[in-house]
Amino acid sequence: MDFDVTGKYDKTFIQENMMGPNSIIILEELTGKIPLKKGMRVLDLGCGNGLTSIFLAKEYGVKVFALDLWISATDNYSRFRELGLEDLIVPIHADAHSMPFSDKYFDVVISVDAYHYFGNNDTFFNEKIQPLLKSNGIFAAAFPGMKYEVHDNVPDEMNRYWNEEALSMWHSAEWWRPKFQKNLNNLKIWEMTCFKQAWDDWLSTDNPYAKEDRKMIRADNGRYMNIIGVTGVLK
Ligand SMILES: C[S@@+](CC[C@H](N)C(=O)[O-])C[C@H]1O[C@@H](n2cnc3c(N)ncnc32)[C@H](O)[C@@H]1O
Repeated sequence: MDFDVTGKYDKTFIQENMMGPNSIIILEELTGKIPLKKGMRVLDLGCGNGLTSIFLAKEYGVKVFALDLWISATDNYSRFRELGLEDLIVPIHADAHSMPFSDKYFDVVISVDAYHYFGNNDTFFNEKIQPLLKSNGIFAAAFPGMKYEVHDNVPDEMNRYWNEEALSMWHSAEWWRPKFQKNLNNLKIWEMTCFKQAWDDWLSTDNPYAKEDRKMIRADNGRYMNIIGVTGVLK
């Protein structure tokens, strides 16, 4: 895959605002699979510093609701305003478990590198996402996962990097499938091809978390971890 669009963005700005594997590269692969149109209402769930919200507003002219828990709405608003995007992106500080929106409000719910924090159970999609989407609304998510379920037999060399919390969130595509299939038509779940580039971009930053992650990715050496993409249309 050629990450053309991503090349247009200021590298320093992206590096300063990344919170994990390069979310713009991941989003580019994800949005290649869904029909986004100008004017659509999009929830960017767990938007972090808002890189993905910026990409969505700039590239597609959609109206983005940029919701995050750890990053304040004020911080995100100042980034959006600096880029002249304050009329297209609404920053919101909220928890995914109690979102302040009307039912059937969104054409699209997108979540990059965040869904595994709250969606790793049998109820979240049904209770929190399904009500927010219009009929035929689109869901698209990408999050870190595993090539297969290693949980009962964690490789020795990975034990020090994957704590219990990480293992509760990182799963295989087949583990995730039933979480979506009763609610989504045209369900696609795949191992994203952007894995290496998205991780390389993150590991090359001097963020202290990236420094730790370098050791983990080196130990993994392409054997266990992946990035899982999910798209589907509400039933
Ligand atoms: C690894 S960061 C990724 C941020 C951004 N999507 C990106 O890719 O750069 C995970 C994000 O998930 C958000 N998050 C985790 N739990 C959440 C919750 N319960 N409600 C809303 N956001 C949550 C955090 O606030 C954090 O910004």
